[in-house]
Amino acid sequence: MNTKIYPRSNDYQTVYLNAVVRNPAIVVGDYTIYNDFVNDPTQFEKNNVLYHYPINGDRLVIGKFCSIACGAKFLFNSANHTLNSLSNYPFPILFEEWQLDKKDIASAWDNKGDIVIGNDVWIGYEAVIMAGVHIGNGAIVASRAVVTKDVPPYTIVGGMPAKEIRKRFDKDIVDKLQELQWWNWNIEKITRYLPHIMGGKINELMK
Ligand SMILES: CC(C)(COP(=O)(O)OP(=O)(O)OC[C@H]1O[C@@H](n2cnc3c(N)ncnc32)[C@H](O)[C@@H]1OP(=O)(O)O)[C@@H](O)C(=O)NCCC(=O)NCCS
Repeated sequence: MNTKIYPRSNDYQTVYLNAVVRNPAIVVGDYTIYNDFVNDPTQFEKNNVLYHYPINGDRLVIGKFCSIACGAKFLFNSANHTLNSLSNYPFPILFEEWQLDKKDIASAWDNKGDIVIGNDVWIGYEAVIMAGVHIGNGAIVASRAVVTKDVPPYTIVGGMPAKEIRKRFDKDIVDKLQELQWWNWNIEKITRYLPHIMGGKINELMK
């Protein structure tokens, strides 16, 4: 667990997310960073995790070593007015006005489940990730993408709705990276292998 908030000296726009998140329904792995040059990045929960109410029991789970760019948003289930109703109007939220039972308030929304982001994922500037979406390890979400469906590992997606742009690597490299899970190595080993990780030398990582 990261204990310091700011990974860089004199940079208060970049934070280790798991050092600033308080909500138990948001789980973030070590070294995952969030950068924000508009708002205070320590306010990630308030500014970036939206429509996320405890009554729905939905969670935001983010892996290790992810990079989340300024203004990326996670839109949770309370944003989804239920489509089971004949009306789009959220009557159950206004239960007093319509003499409805307060305990049925969550029927106002369709619950598509958790948002789950893998490890080493890069989420671009002002991307929007919708409720229920799972993003695989090593994926990239382009700037301003709206991600409505799951993203396979090491896949670059962009656009609205987000579609595959291309794979990051050939399948054999993806398979090796998925098997190695370097992000779960201890820090001494990651540090030792960093030149090969950064240099794209997959065969050196296998040694
Ligand atoms: C997605 C991304 C990584 C692609 O990088 P790349 O492969 O070098 O990009 P290219 O310019 O070669 O574009 C490849 C294709 O993706 C499309 N594309 C690139 N960025 C896109 C975006 N944000 N939304 C939709 N499509 C995009 C291009 O139009 C191109 O399409 P084509 O093949 O039909 O011509 C990059 O464009 C991006 O969005 N990076 C995130 C930047 C960011 O938000 N940084 C925040 C600070 S960390």
